[in-house]
Amino acid sequence: MSKKLITLTINREQHEVLIEDNELLSNVLHDTLALTGTKYGCGTGECGACTVLVDGDPILSCITLAVTVEGCEITTIEGVAPKVGELDPIQEAFLEQAAIQCGYCTPGMILVARDLLVRNPKPSEEEIREAIRGNICRCTGYTSIVKAIQEAANHGCCCK
Ligand code: FES
Ligand code: FES
Repeated sequence: MSKKLITLTINREQHEVLIEDNELLSNVLHDTLALTGTKYGCGTGECGACTVLVDGDPILSCITLAVTVEGCEITTIEGVAPKVGELDPIQEAFLEQAAIQCGYCTPGMILVARDLLVRNPKPSEEEIREAIRGNICRCTGYTSIVKAIQEAANHGCCCK
């Protein structure tokens, strides 16, 4: 398998990475670039733990080849806060609503919520539940997660 040097734009920074043609984005983020906020659960596109945003859209990094996202803007959970040491409104709402137990699903949930609130700033509960349908919380904290997304929406989440 041949290696290839590609440039990935992640959280507004460019990273040159030497990868195999068949290397998955989740591996590159987690293992090569040490962006460990992106979690790895099922590895088969079923749990949502590995969700990142690519050009603003949620994708499952465990089933996405890294070579296919060269030239795109990738956002991981490390890139959602406006500054180091600050939280974005969705992260704050998750804390306030205690919507985090073990936290394994949280990065994916927050990125999916961000996509939802950019597209639909005042979603109904049903729309929130539909948006997080592909993200599994093994701790089953769905009620708090939905409340946190509602709270972020009520505060006019500024996630553009
Ligand atoms: S680890 Fe990617 S969907 Fe489960
Ligand atoms: S908080 Fe544990 S998996 Fe969701």
